[in-house]
Amino acid sequence: MKRVAILISGGGSNMVALVNSMTGDHPGRPVLVASNDPAAGGLAKAAAAGIATAAVDHRTFGKDRAAFEGALLHHIEAANPDVLCLAGFMRVLTPAFVARFEGRMLNIHPSLLPKYPGLHTHQRALDAGDAEAGCTVHEVTAVLDDGPILGQARVPVLPGDTADSLAARVLVQEHRLYPAALRNYLSGNRTPIALP
Ligand code: GRF
Repeated sequence: MKRVAILISGGGSNMVALVNSMTGDHPGRPVLVASNDPAAGGLAKAAAAGIATAAVDHRTFGKDRAAFEGALLHHIEAANPDVLCLAGFMRVLTPAFVARFEGRMLNIHPSLLPKYPGLHTHQRALDAGDAEAGCTVHEVTAVLDDGPILGQARVPVLPGDTADSLAARVLVQEHRLYPAALRNYLSGNRTPIALP
């Protein structure tokens, strides 16, 4: 059984989708949900599911990212995960942190990478007049939103769409894609999946 730690910054709907999927014959089990924001709504959801939680407020470290990550690592190493999942985790991790978990850290990004790394992905897809949008699960490397793709799901861009309406349609697919990609990954399969 693979031990899975999940990092969040907000409500944690992707974290909940991952946790709900890790039952039965799934090769993983959640061992920690940690956040850079003690007020993140997802922490209470994880605790209610009986999962250990931790919060390290990045604001108390100012610009000292290494010190913040050191404090976060203290909790992560105590949980001794095999794999780390970034799920709506909005802090950019240093290359040193990434190197520590390289090849065993995943992220979900709300665009069809390599299109639109970074922020405001849905508005950028609308501004470009794209006919479709989507989300991507990828391995995390030192280059932001750039690692090997493990899976993608696509949605149509509909007339009258706003960034919010598109984000809501993509989020539904995120909750399907991330559990499927994690199961595949923990089973040793690196062939990217494409959800119908
Ligand atoms: C998701 O759209 C995710 O792709 C992005 O942040 C959003 C967070 O959602 N990085 P949640 O916290 O998992 O509900």
